Amino acid sequence: MVKICCIGAGYVGGPTMAVIALKCPNVQVTVVDIAEQRINAWNSDTLPIYEPGLDDVVKKCRGKNLFFSTQVEKNIADSDIIFVSVNTPTKTQGLGAGKAADLTYWESAARMIADVSKSDKIVVEKSTVPVKTAEAIERILTHNKKGINFTILSNPEFLAEGTAIQDLYNPDRVLIGGRETPDGQKAINALRDVYANWVPKERILCTNLWSAELSKLAANVSHSIGTDSRIGPKFLNASVGFGGSCFQKDILNLVYICECNGLPEVANYWKQVVKVNDYQKSRFVNRVVSSMFNTVSSKKIAILGFAFKKDTGDTREAPAIDVCKGLLGDKARLSIYDPQVTEDQILKDLSMKKFDKDHPSHLQPASPTSIKQVSIVSDAYQAVKDSHGICILTEWDEFKKLDYQKVFDSMQKPAFIFDGRNIVDAHQLRKIGFIVYCIGKPLDPWLKDMPSVA
Ligand code: NAI
Repeated sequence: MVKICCIGAGYVGGPTMAVIALKCPNVQVTVVDIAEQRINAWNSDTLPIYEPGLDDVVKKCRGKNLFFSTQVEKNIADSDIIFVSVNTPTKTQGLGAGKAADLTYWESAARMIADVSKSDKIVVEKSTVPVKTAEAIERILTHNKKGINFTILSNPEFLAEGTAIQDLYNPDRVLIGGRETPDGQKAINALRDVYANWVPKERILCTNLWSAELSKLAANVSHSIGTDSRIGPKFLNASVGFGGSCFQKDILNLVYICECNGLPEVANYWKQVVKVNDYQKSRFVNRVVSSMFNTVSSKKIAILGFAFKKDTGDTREAPAIDVCKGLLGDKARLSIYDPQVTEDQILKDLSMKKFDKDHPSHLQPASPTSIKQVSIVSDAYQAVKDSHGICILTEWDEFKKLDYQKVFDSMQKPAFIFDGRNIVDAHQLRKIGFIVYCIGKPLDPWLKDMPSVA
């Protein structure tokens, strides 16, 4: 039986390994993590992340050929193939701060693999990393352990949160990069055999290490990669801003690569993407404040949705964080509701500095028990009750189906809705009596007359 160990039980490691276990009954998969709380949750009825369909997959395999454990060293030593799916956030300090990827977690995982391995291993780079990381990691592995053969592969992950299980069942492509040596080719074949259990052969693309790494970074930023079905109309909807752990971080990575290679103009081009995204969020806040008579001080604003997109509980780089901070800066009172994000998480996000969020929890500040002006509620109707305005910041389906007459009746008047995701029927809502702002759409006649800063 092939034994796989995955280091990192996060949004990528957990679902990816669960699907491998489901589709490959002859493979034993163990997901390890240093975060005990996360592993305990993977072993409980309440998984640490929300993904449609994930519960079923885990239930079918857990305890059979899928295991979650904090025994990192033992499981690494026992396995044939090791996936490294640790976080690679943007550096917050030192050289390349604010742009370059922080490879601390990756490097410590690699050093641990070198330390504890007693037999040959295939090490698979699953995290998104700068180009040529595989080579650097290979050096760490081979210099720290003599007599053991480590073969490194790059197998970047293209899943999108919210549709992770469907993406894994039916990927546009699986990319495997490896060395063009006999050992490299043998390792590529071994990993291809795993995916071939359910992915058609023509969708498993094998290439060299460098190309596989670059493809992931480029796919996250290049609209021209048309085979990627996440890109195109699905990807280009107007909104209050993009979020998620990957997109901004990978753009910043490209900025850093360009700067290091003496291409400041190209670096500035990519930097602009992040700047425009930040502008979009502050513009939304300005729109809210200016529409509501240039002040939201002490006004209750309902925030519907906090996750960076629907069908996930992930809040990394969620535009809601910056929008809420902007409104709090203007002294609004916020009542926040999201169907999947916990109170603790929201309070942490609102009290944390940019980029800190992506680093492991033990490096994050302890969560404050409360923030003045913020209340977190468990129901959309409770959030909107007595509010002066509503901001829709995540496109959850349930916000499309609210009884908006009931919402209107419970609000202060004039009742404002600022739809940052374009999900409401503005025409219908105006008939009820709302003043509606939908991002990227013509202004409500009422708003046109307001002195606007946005
Ligand atoms: P995550 O932060 O959810 O999970 C990473 C896990 O690794 C954490 O639970 C952390 O405790 C653990 N970890 C860190 N160092 C460790 C060590 N030395 N030993 C054991 N465990 C360790 O991260 P996520 O979102 O799963 O991302 C992982 C990688 O995949 C990143 O490089 C990301 O860029 C990439 N990626 C993420 C996608 C997404 O949609 N979230 C999509 C495609 C790629």
